[in-house]
Amino acid sequence: MKEAQIQYEYIEKAKKIVERESAKKGRKLTCCVNTFGCQMNARDSEKLSGILKAAGFVEVEEENADLVIYNTCTVRDNANQRVYGRLGVLNGYKRKNPDMKICLCGCMMQEASVIEKIRKSYSFVDLIFGTHNIFKFAELLVRMYESEDMIVDIWQDTDQIVEELPVERKYPFKSGINIMFGCNNFCSYCIVPYVRGRERSREPEEILSEIRSLAKDGVVEIMLLGQNVNSYGKNLSEPVSFAELLKRVEEIEGIERIRFMTSHPKDLSDELIRVMKHSKKICRHLHLPLQSGSTKILEAMNRRYTKEQYLALAEKIRKEIPDISLTTDIIIGFPGETYEDVCDTIDVIKKVEYDNAFTFQYSKRTGTPAAAMEDQVDKETVTRHFDEVLKVVQDTAKNRAGRLKGEIHQALVEEENDKEQGLMTGRLGNNMIVHFPGEKELIGKIVSVRLTECMGFYYLGEMI
Ligand code: SAH
Ligand code: SF4
Ligand code: F3S
Repeated sequence: MKEAQIQYEYIEKAKKIVERESAKKGRKLTCCVNTFGCQMNARDSEKLSGILKAAGFVEVEEENADLVIYNTCTVRDNANQRVYGRLGVLNGYKRKNPDMKICLCGCMMQEASVIEKIRKSYSFVDLIFGTHNIFKFAELLVRMYESEDMIVDIWQDTDQIVEELPVERKYPFKSGINIMFGCNNFCSYCIVPYVRGRERSREPEEILSEIRSLAKDGVVEIMLLGQNVNSYGKNLSEPVSFAELLKRVEEIEGIERIRFMTSHPKDLSDELIRVMKHSKKICRHLHLPLQSGSTKILEAMNRRYTKEQYLALAEKIRKEIPDISLTTDIIIGFPGETYEDVCDTIDVIKKVEYDNAFTFQYSKRTGTPAAAMEDQVDKETVTRHFDEVLKVVQDTAKNRAGRLKGEIHQALVEEENDKEQGLMTGRLGNNMIVHFPGEKELIGKIVSVRLTECMGFYYLGEMI
């Protein structure tokens, strides 16, 4: 039997359990899915929600639900600390509602030391699983309700890609789509390859048919997801390049906007630039993580490009697609980083003129090569360098932000503005936000908006 079929049978079993428990309580069971980390985790959470909904749970925002699941991230230590902090709160809820179930999954659970700590200090947790067996969630759910003990099921890796399980999307009009899983790059600071396993691409036909059915279901904007989308398809039995995949996605009727995350600069091809340039649907936004502007640090990071190569690439992209908005990720405080290296990073920020840059303080991840490097930078120096870089990032972004003022752009209306009544919030192709007067009925539609005023990091506008 196919794995998906097996899981659908477990969903039926879970349904009976949920019915039984609901009858006991005289009300429907509630669940709350809380996501930490990146877009890939957000997409995984939609799969968790899909299964919970199919099993009969009603999803709520509050964490004092009958079942709470944390889909965790471990890319930096503060993500881990937040989970531990909130587990304490969940324990309080569970004391009041002893039937409450607490589940943990995601990247953090792939670390043996985390599991050990939870077993010892958070024994009230009911279910733990990892990133490789998330497709077994229905089965694990059933096992959890049938057992008194904490269930821990962590796999070291998998080559399976299980298709066609239920998904509950957060937004009706836009969706992420995994095109690949895992990562093979082993940047020396990064834990992702250890917790997400080796790179595996989905078959193009599976991706396209998922997107076609999303389009039928009202989705107009999609984001293709992978740790390094530029190496998509290289290991398929019939290799397909990422640029080729994009061309085929573009042909799908109903899809009006295409985004993707993340592009590793070392693998960004001329073919991709060409396809973006001629595309009517691919958004004019490229997230191109720099990490550091110093060639010495880049080498120690195992990024496999130099400062000069990165600058040349950015220049080439800007020349071919002048209206593109570039964003990036930067790490400050990698082992061995001196003030001179930080100046190189600042130099790149100024030259590339990013629309936005996510700046992170280096976080030591046990098991990665960088964690064992000798010259770790002290906290005080990191903070000083970080503040300086952040200032440059903000000034650059502010200078760039106003450039569209007065122009008319397409915006996908995403939601009502929660601060001011009568205003709607839309997203431009370049990922910036615009607020403008409008009706709720516009949500999910793409409309023309004149950008009348720039408020720093967002625009005010009017529909035309
Ligand atoms: N695959 C993506 C990044 C995924 S992690 C890429 O290669 O660009 C998202 C970001 O977290 C990274 O770009 C990096 O800037 C940051 N990051 C990863 N590991 C980190 C660490 N140990 N300390 C601080 N930031 C880190
Ligand atoms: Fe981490 Fe590098 Fe892979 Fe991105 S490409 S997930 S930074 S190892
Ligand atoms: Fe975090 Fe895992 Fe994403 S570690 S950044 S949630 S792949």
